[in-house]
Amino acid sequence: MRHFTNVHDLGNLKSALREAAEIKADKFKYDQSGKNKTLMMIFFNSSLRTRLSTQKAAMNLGMNVMVLDINQGAWKLETERGVVMDGDKPEHILEAIPVMGCYCDVIGVRAFARFESRDDDYGEKIINQFIDLSGRPVFSMEAATRHPLQSFADLITIEEYKKKDKPKVVLSWAPHPKVLPQAVPNSFAEWMNETDYEFVITHPEGYELAPQFVGKADVEYDQWKAFEGADFIYAKNWSAYSGDNYGKILSVDPAWTIDSEKMAHTDNAYFMHCLPIRRNMITTDDVLESPQSIVIPEAANREISAQVVLKRILENL
Ligand code: CP
Repeated sequence: MRHFTNVHDLGNLKSALREAAEIKADKFKYDQSGKNKTLMMIFFNSSLRTRLSTQKAAMNLGMNVMVLDINQGAWKLETERGVVMDGDKPEHILEAIPVMGCYCDVIGVRAFARFESRDDDYGEKIINQFIDLSGRPVFSMEAATRHPLQSFADLITIEEYKKKDKPKVVLSWAPHPKVLPQAVPNSFAEWMNETDYEFVITHPEGYELAPQFVGKADVEYDQWKAFEGADFIYAKNWSAYSGDNYGKILSVDPAWTIDSEKMAHTDNAYFMHCLPIRRNMITTDDVLESPQSIVIPEAANREISAQVVLKRILENL
């Protein structure tokens, strides 16, 4: 594997899941594979889990790690070609990226949707420039439209907890006070569409995801109906995708908050969320603290998904 930005880069998912189980059983089995190799992690946006889990995964493989927060201590980067750089951005991304590539062997990039242009966001303008200009393998630590390391960890978690071969998995929108990207729900849907699970997406009208991510999922506007018989509830907020509403908040309706009454409507479903989570907006304290909540093991699997991806990239250097 050269680059990792979506589910298709990983190839056969069953094989990737087997590799994840092997690594989870012995995280240090391949501790020489990254010897004298350097990972550079570049963050345009904040992170807790991605930063720590990816760094830990790289260390498990024997890699050196450098972390650059673009907004803290680095030169502000201009990203538009052709602008007269007489403002507050002293460096252009067109020089910065190949320079970064000089100092490392593998690059991880976090660059969220900026909501200035849907075409730019859905064209993955930032991470694609890293792929084009760095001369290094690049993997996504959440880009504008996808968060594949999260989705891979989500899949590992569902496989570990499922009680039937084809569980019913429900991706549910829930309210949030800030504008959030569609990357996590897009990506989760993309990965679920590669499984044979029963997959349902529920959200208020107006929150339809891009059709290429919805895929074969059933879309159900009645959250109660969607929850019936569910084995996994995957909660997430996202802003609107469609037309002029791109990047807008259309609802903060607390009727969509996931509480214990709704969870009781499922088949004793597990509760999942990528974190960070706004308590008593997305879900209530009691759901999050219930035995059915698996948000912590889900976060723990971020180390495993990152390690599989890094190992495969190292094997191809
Ligand atoms: N889930 C996730 O990506 O968490 P961070 O934003 O903290 O990295």
